[in-house]
Amino acid sequence: MKFFLDTANLEQIQTAQLMGIIDGVTTNPSLMAKEGITGEDNIKTHYKKICEIVDGDVSAEVISTDFKGMIAEGEKLAALHKQIVVKIPVIADGIRAIKDLTSKGIRTNCTLIFNPGQALLAAKAGASYVSPFIGRLDDIGQDGMELIHQLVHILDTYGFETEIIAASIRNTNHILQCMEAGADVATCPLDAITGLLNHPLTDAGLEKFLADHRKLNG
Ligand code: E4P
Repeated sequence: MKFFLDTANLEQIQTAQLMGIIDGVTTNPSLMAKEGITGEDNIKTHYKKICEIVDGDVSAEVISTDFKGMIAEGEKLAALHKQIVVKIPVIADGIRAIKDLTSKGIRTNCTLIFNPGQALLAAKAGASYVSPFIGRLDDIGQDGMELIHQLVHILDTYGFETEIIAASIRNTNHILQCMEAGADVATCPLDAITGLLNHPLTDAGLEKFLADHRKLNG
């Protein structure tokens, strides 16, 4: 399973890249706003900076919600860097935009997926990725992981090439469950990924090794 970092924070992207643990980055307008990135030029520059740090796909989301607007924005975003994947919301104009952008060789990530039907339509339109949001389903008392299981089964059964990015990941347990379910990618906050390193026996073992070394070496 690939890991994407779900952030627009350059420092975190750099940290994860240096550790060699990420295969790409996803952003959204909320994540860009969190970093204080405003204005078309600054947003474009920021996407380029992300692409220069990370090896792999970088999802950049459109703001428009109408077909023409999404196409115009999507084409501009895709022209910024070859690693850019245009992120499009799963609405009717969005599905049409995915079809159009795909026919022009522009890769897309269909976002805000909350049920299998939405993912199926995005895949049929040619989306490179679909992004089901696990955490937000859990937040409203539904089972986000069940959606991942359904999508793995459906996309595999019908032979779609669309990859599943498990999104809205809240913790390391979500990541482990996504691996078991067969998601292609998990896009996560950095602390959820590095949380995979944590184990009390690792901490205790390391402490003991160092203490034994100090006993003889001062
Ligand atoms: C995915 O592409 C989204 O940016 C993200 O995973 C949403 O996560 P959230 O529900 O924590 O905002």
